[in-house]
Amino acid sequence: MTEMTLQDRVALVTGGASGIGKAICRAFAAEGATVAVLDRNGDAARELVEQLGRGVTLPADVGDSAAVDRATQRVVDELGSLDILVNNAGIIGVEEARRAGSIMEQQVAEAGAGKVSTPLRSVENLTDDQWRKMLATHLDGTFYCTRAAMRAMAPKGRGVVINIASICGIEGCAGLPHYSAAKAGILGLTRAVAKDAILQGIRVNAIAPGFTDTPLLDVLTPLLRGSLAVQTPVGRMGTVDEIAAVAVFLASDRAGFFVGETLSPNGGYLTV
Ligand code: NAI
Repeated sequence: MTEMTLQDRVALVTGGASGIGKAICRAFAAEGATVAVLDRNGDAARELVEQLGRGVTLPADVGDSAAVDRATQRVVDELGSLDILVNNAGIIGVEEARRAGSIMEQQVAEAGAGKVSTPLRSVENLTDDQWRKMLATHLDGTFYCTRAAMRAMAPKGRGVVINIASICGIEGCAGLPHYSAAKAGILGLTRAVAKDAILQGIRVNAIAPGFTDTPLLDVLTPLLRGSLAVQTPVGRMGTVDEIAAVAVFLASDRAGFFVGETLSPNGGYLTV
């Protein structure tokens, strides 16, 4: 029998209870890893750990550094080490996306009549709380979890960190300035940390998925979901398994020469 790619590795996946994170947990477990599922939705995380048959449930908010430190320590105490971290927890900003979505619908109607004339005004309408929550979840969360994981990995001289960014962090997505800024920040953090960490044996890379069919996009109307598929040359959204496959590769020893790289499975939406 061939050895599984992640045999005997311990992985911590944030936001692991839903969508892309859940698919990554399943794919890692199928490759032999033991998975710690960190999610603010503790019930859903627990359910997944039960389905996987092993692992640890970590109900926590990635934006809370003390909670992240405690959760990481639990992984080391209960599973013996921490080999892989996936920073995946994320939000879209439901109110903001809904507001932008309804104006985009109007823009589609205007475009059909000849010219779009109604601006989104996303920045003017963004509140301090919406901005801070977005950055706290994505950017603070990625920093806190990476710091805690690196403290656990460095003494062993081995580890992998995978940050889930987005095409919005490369291209900028209309209607989501705070989400796009947070994801671009994650890409900058990825590149800098990667150059630091590699001499400690810790490989840091990012995945920037294109539009992917998960509960995150439930806030969009059918028309807008359809228009995302139309904008994606392959003609559909990605599946969570297509993203998870990239995470398995980056987590594996076969990706040993990838350092600070961004892999973007996006169906042709971006081609550079
Ligand atoms: P999802 O909504 O299905 O799952 C996100 C998970 O993160 C949920 O289980 C949620 O409870 C958890 N979470 C949210 N905030 C948290 C916090 N502060 N602390 C702990 N857990 C938290 O979303 P999806 O689509 O699976 O998203 C996963 C990642 O992929 C996110 O970072 C998202 O921005 C990114 N992404 C998603 C794309 C898509 O089209 N669905 C495209 C590109 C990137």
